[in-house]
Amino acid sequence: MAGVSESSRGGFSNKIGFVLAAAGSAVGLGNIWKFPFEVADGGGGAFVAMYLAFCFLLCFPVMMAEIAIGRKTNKNAVGAFETNGHKNWSAVGKMGVLSGALILSFYNVVAGWAFGFALEMIAGNFEIGANFGQFISDWHINLAFSSVFMFLTIYIVMKGVSGGIEKASKILMPSLLFLILALMGYALTQDGAMEGVAFYLVPDFSEITFDVAFSAMGQAFFSLSLGMGALITYGSYVGKKDNIAHSTAMILLTDVGIAFIAGLMMFAFIYSQGLQGTSGGAGLIFTVLPSAFESLGPVLGRVIGAAFFILLSFAALTSTVSLLEVPVAYVVDEHEVRRSRAVWIVGGLIFLLGIPSMLGNGTVDFFNNFITYSSGKTVNFMTFIENLASDTFLPLGGFFIALYTAWVWRGDNFKKELEQGNPGFGDTILGKYSIFALKFLVPIILGAITMVTISDKFLGLDLLEITRNLINDLIKFINT
Ligand code: TRP
Repeated sequence: MAGVSESSRGGFSNKIGFVLAAAGSAVGLGNIWKFPFEVADGGGGAFVAMYLAFCFLLCFPVMMAEIAIGRKTNKNAVGAFETNGHKNWSAVGKMGVLSGALILSFYNVVAGWAFGFALEMIAGNFEIGANFGQFISDWHINLAFSSVFMFLTIYIVMKGVSGGIEKASKILMPSLLFLILALMGYALTQDGAMEGVAFYLVPDFSEITFDVAFSAMGQAFFSLSLGMGALITYGSYVGKKDNIAHSTAMILLTDVGIAFIAGLMMFAFIYSQGLQGTSGGAGLIFTVLPSAFESLGPVLGRVIGAAFFILLSFAALTSTVSLLEVPVAYVVDEHEVRRSRAVWIVGGLIFLLGIPSMLGNGTVDFFNNFITYSSGKTVNFMTFIENLASDTFLPLGGFFIALYTAWVWRGDNFKKELEQGNPGFGDTILGKYSIFALKFLVPIILGAITMVTISDKFLGLDLLEITRNLINDLIKFINT
């Protein structure tokens, strides 16, 4: 991972080091920026219920699989499959490298917004929330902020995080958690907050469609940094005596816990500000939170608002570092480029790739209305890349990682790897469930949801309708 230079592929000093780094990768804009607007767009409680089910039932075993593959092979996402003797499967790792690059390209733009908002809060400019659309369409500002952010990311990946950022994260991540908890407490006391809580927690099962399941699944993978080999790379630094199942549980609970309370805070604020029914979208936290901070008064509002966006930027930074690390580790290991050079080249290219995402927020019409799905919905470049990389490639990566682990590397070898540092785990209910899930549950569910939605979204084929007709025809045929 990013904390270790090429000369010291030694491993984390201890288990906490690994869990902290992986949790730092997991907790980021996905929890605080993306999760609330996905919930708003997905109809509330039903989305939350599906998201939680995906995290615990499907992502838990996939996360263990990634970490186990990494520890077993000591390699990056691509090299891991080759080392294990399955060269063809390294295509999965390559898809991961591509996903990492695509995700980082737009993630860096959003991180720039968070950074910019920190400065606006310091200046006491609470109106920025209402002027969000104007803010993101001003490409000068966005270019400046996102360059700063990419530069910091490159710098840290080059130097390694084991020094400063790891120490800082031990203080700053708990501070972020504390601040969100405090804001959540405040939000819940506001008038109308409870309706927001009800929208968030009480599922309306009529809202469950393949499309919503598809976004909930993508969100689960995105938030957990799963499905693109980031945790294979991280797992390669885990010690043989470490307990993978236990670490996985801690990472998962931290990530889901922070998303959950951030959502509670957001929906309490949204409803108390009378914004219910808002379509969400990428601007949600940026439009809602500034007026919430303003309600704290001119001084406290500035302090809390600035602290919030600074800590959010920091959380984003520990995630961008892990996103950049995957393609960099690949280029360094497989193409023998010097690390310091690889970081600049890869980081620079990804930055350029992010420019259309930046310009598609009101600056250049071609990128504003980039593509129209068969549903008739037109999305901008950023949303398209997000749909493609995080909603499609990540679960697809998870699908292949599950198939690979259970059927190619084989369940018993996976079990052996998990039992190093956790003897007898394979015979516990959780151990048995995990192997079963990787064999059947994960491939079937992820495969079905991905297939149905992709063919509908991108190809305009309604597979459900086609299957229904096929079955009807079959019944008719049998009856004649
Ligand atoms: N999980 C991070 C977030 O929620 C984003 C992220 C970092 C990520 N590394 C990743 C997503 C690797 C997918 C894969 O903000």
